Amino acid sequence: MIKTQSLTFSYEDSTDLVLDNINLNIEKGSFTAILGHNGSGKSTLAKTFNAILLPTGGSVYVGGIDTNEEDKLFDIRRKAGMVFQNPDNQMVAAIVEDEVAFAPENLGVEPSEIRRRVDECLETVGMTKYAHSASAKLSGGQKQRVAIAGVLAMQPEILILDEPTAMLDPRGRREVIRTIKRLNREQGITVVLITHYMNEAAEADRTVVIDSGRIVLDGTPKEVFENVEKIKSLGLDVPQVTELMYELKKRGIEVNSDALTVDEGFSALISLLGGAAND
Ligand SMILES: Nc1ncnc2c1ncn2[C@@H]1O[C@H](COP(=O)(O)OP(=O)(O)OP(=O)(O)O)[C@@H](O)[C@H]1O
Ligand SMILES: [Mg+2]
Repeated sequence: MIKTQSLTFSYEDSTDLVLDNINLNIEKGSFTAILGHNGSGKSTLAKTFNAILLPTGGSVYVGGIDTNEEDKLFDIRRKAGMVFQNPDNQMVAAIVEDEVAFAPENLGVEPSEIRRRVDECLETVGMTKYAHSASAKLSGGQKQRVAIAGVLAMQPEILILDEPTAMLDPRGRREVIRTIKRLNREQGITVVLITHYMNEAAEADRTVVIDSGRIVLDGTPKEVFENVEKIKSLGLDVPQVTELMYELKKRGIEVNSDALTVDEGFSALISLLGGAAND
């Protein structure tokens, strides 16, 4: 769905490589999380995925289209929808349903089809009840879900989200992540989620860690988070449960160390305690 080949990128006013030889193949229908500390190049990479930025070297293909093809810009932007960190900067309309209708209106979609898409997309993100509400009155999590509905109304194949939960409270974060997961699982939308929350990355099928514009780790969340020392040396954390298992193991306690979620951590501890009780 997205393929980069020897992708390099520098901003105009500098010779520093912000992206350095990135080779990445993102499968259709997958859910990929991209992690990296501040300034590692995550947002820059995301912007090359829908031709907001064009490669300085190498290529990016979106659904097989080379982002360098200027006359395909429109097709690329429709295929790959972007959601950014600050919902307030993305809102253009005063009323929720107008917000969702905005993109299809600009695409010249038939009014009856716009109506259908607005209803369907608000339903998908669980915001039907707020169709006639003022966008400004919503919580951060609700605004982000409306922003996602606005992107879905273009019927994209890929959803790229650049730290969509960074400005939200824990409840808003859960709402947004649940929505994203559902879109991926139920509608088969390819998701690329940039995040600095390790627990969110643990929800993905694949986690890619970048550092100084290079891919340094790439695999399932379990494979990636096994590299506790390396992840810490990159200035990142591991999920709390992984950290706990790691610390126990370091103290010589034989525990299943690849647990990522609270449930897995719980099972690992129970089997450890059960084992101890039987001795
Ligand atoms: N418009 C720009 N012009 C020049 N340099 C830029 C520009 N935008 C970003 N940079 C530089 O490119 C590098 C990567 O920035 P980028 O925003 O892609 O990182 P990031 O991983 O998204 O960081 P964050 O976690 O803070 O969002 C940084 O060194 C940054 O200073
Ligand atoms: Mg960023």
